[in-house]
Amino acid sequence: MSSLAWCSYKRITVEPLAKALGARVLGVDLSQIIEQEVLDEIRMAWQKYLVLVFPEQDITDGQQVRFSRQFGELEIYPLGDNRSQHNPEIFRVSNCDAAGQLLPADDPESLWNNLTEYWHTDSSYRTVPAQGAVLHGREVPPHGGDTLFVNLVEAFDGLPEKRQKSLENLVVVHDWQYGTEYADHLMKAMKSEEIESVPPVRHPLIRTDRSTGKRALFVSPAYASGIDGIVVKEARDLIAELCEWAIQPQFIYRHSWSRHDVVMWYNPLTMHAREAFDYGRERRIMHRTTIVGT
Ligand SMILES: [Fe+2]
Repeated sequence: MSSLAWCSYKRITVEPLAKALGARVLGVDLSQIIEQEVLDEIRMAWQKYLVLVFPEQDITDGQQVRFSRQFGELEIYPLGDNRSQHNPEIFRVSNCDAAGQLLPADDPESLWNNLTEYWHTDSSYRTVPAQGAVLHGREVPPHGGDTLFVNLVEAFDGLPEKRQKSLENLVVVHDWQYGTEYADHLMKAMKSEEIESVPPVRHPLIRTDRSTGKRALFVSPAYASGIDGIVVKEARDLIAELCEWAIQPQFIYRHSWSRHDVVMWYNPLTMHAREAFDYGRERRIMHRTTIVGT
């Protein structure tokens, strides 16, 4: 990393965490109202490093919502049961219920939570995928449960030029309900209005992010159910092959959580997956806010 990366921030300290993506941000207190100049530097670092880690941020849900709103409107998660009763913008990602009780490992809610072990880009099932997400680790297990992030721009850039060209015009179908096919045992019952609120959408496989102009290999295999004009099996084989390519170590940042880490990622240029932990014994309570895509 060049020394320039260390010098271009006047109000925050940004320490790169891995070669491909990820940086630790120091010198900011997310519980406080943040000055515009600091927000501008955070935005600059967010778009450059794609994953920002703010350690030791013991913030309330209200403070998380306030911080996240500085970067855009917030999504409301489609499933009512997973929203906080007090702040609908807070999506609870947890193996504990809303009262904080640990759920048995075979509880439908706990099983459903394990869908996050599949590689995905948040909200790729929306017409415009989320711009970003802010995830606060309120309680984290002592072992396991790491989140792995991939830089999809580098994954695209790393492909041979001929391969890039061959993928250029492909359009992928992203379907929120696709989990019923590859992980039916993890899916939970949903209300018809919840399902109808997120019908399948289409995105280019090589997707250009409007804000940064960067091109990414937009695979999101947990939601990518097919490719227009290609028979289903071949399309899914291709998506799986491209996912395997993208998750090579040189494109990854692994985040091992400490309590009250706040991690903010630039969603359209990344995908992520959580590693396993002892679901029936260890508590993991994460609160997510999601920034609407542009
Ligand atoms: Fe996610």
